[in-house]
Amino acid sequence: MKTLVKNFLPESQVDRLRNARLLFKESGAARLATSVQTSGLKFASSAKPLATAYYSLLSRQFRREERAVLLGLAKYHAELQEDDANVFLMRRNVHRLEKGLLMRPRRPVFAKDYILETVNVYRKIVSEPSHADESTAESLLWAHDVLRAYFGAVAPDPVLDHAREVFEKCPAPAGNSAEAKRIPYKRLLDDHPVSYEQLEQLALKRRSVRWFEQKPVPRELLDKAFTVAGLSPSACNRQPFRFLVFDDPETVEQVASLPGGTIGWKHNIPVMVVVLGSLDAFYSEKDRHVIYIDGSLAAMSFSYALETLGLSSCICNWPDIEAHEKRAQEVLGLKGYERPVFFMAVGYPDPEAMVAYSQKRPLEVMREYNPPINRS
Ligand SMILES: Cc1cc2nc3c(=O)[nH]c(=O)nc-3n(C[C@H](O)[C@H](O)[C@H](O)COP(=O)(O)O)c2cc1C
Repeated sequence: MKTLVKNFLPESQVDRLRNARLLFKESGAARLATSVQTSGLKFASSAKPLATAYYSLLSRQFRREERAVLLGLAKYHAELQEDDANVFLMRRNVHRLEKGLLMRPRRPVFAKDYILETVNVYRKIVSEPSHADESTAESLLWAHDVLRAYFGAVAPDPVLDHAREVFEKCPAPAGNSAEAKRIPYKRLLDDHPVSYEQLEQLALKRRSVRWFEQKPVPRELLDKAFTVAGLSPSACNRQPFRFLVFDDPETVEQVASLPGGTIGWKHNIPVMVVVLGSLDAFYSEKDRHVIYIDGSLAAMSFSYALETLGLSSCICNWPDIEAHEKRAQEVLGLKGYERPVFFMAVGYPDPEAMVAYSQKRPLEVMREYNPPINRS
């Protein structure tokens, strides 16, 4: 509506309308409308069924999310039924096996309730060339090494022995070596690659940068930063996200126009990154927030890595606005179960441009040791 008005009315009229709207906000009628709305919200939030009714009948705000979560679940479960080859399931289960292997004390028999599922999904992926493609090659090598370590470590048991037999009949994944390398290990603790002071300096230096030098960003540097991003923690190590990178000036302009928060500075962005979450990584709705959590953790590492390479970034918000979602789906060709987490502008910071001071909340406000808890 806003865009429509802006496109069809002269600027002076748009200004008048804006002033009228601002004045209306101060009026008694607006205050009455706000108070009715507040009472309605209080009432709807006073009990779970009322909240459900509110979001089913009166508000459409969650509809896209609900559909996206469902599409992801449907894809995940269909893959299990049809060919048992969901790579996210394999990654999650292999991660669980690793946790069992490093447990203290390690139990002689563990993972009994999901080892067959794990071996089956591994067998499907490793045996079918269509599944064992580049995107799963590294996951397969990891699964192979961990499964081998697991079967070498557990005690005899009918279920585990059966799973071992299935595993031993599987072909080895491409690139496999005799020495199992991708298994739990002890870290070298004397090695401190970065001091606290260095990390603090990096955090102090990083700021959201919105003005960039007009020169291309070498992909080699971006890939270095993405490599660090890929090392970030992720729930059950599934890593249910991808980075879509746009560095062609014409496309960048289009992509930079998708999020609203780039207005006024989008024309100077050299690279746009879309952090994209994939909801087909989960078997249950309970994990629906994980794409946002994992995507954000990776993006933070990416942002710090960029700074070490002389590059800067600014996250661009992706609020859940139906019209924006539709447009992004069209422009980026997204599947229904894929959702942008947010966008990131990247480039060489313009040394002449300013960054916001962005005061941070004090430590004492931000953290609280041992707040009172209810021990009953
Ligand atoms: C989730 C998220 C969304 C953001 N969206 C925008 C945005 O749309 N436009 C913008 O100019 N900055 C955006 N920012 C940058 C914030 O304004 C910035 O991080 C904050 O003011 C703190 O400043 P600093 O990053 O320099 O420490 C966003 C940051 C985050 C984390």
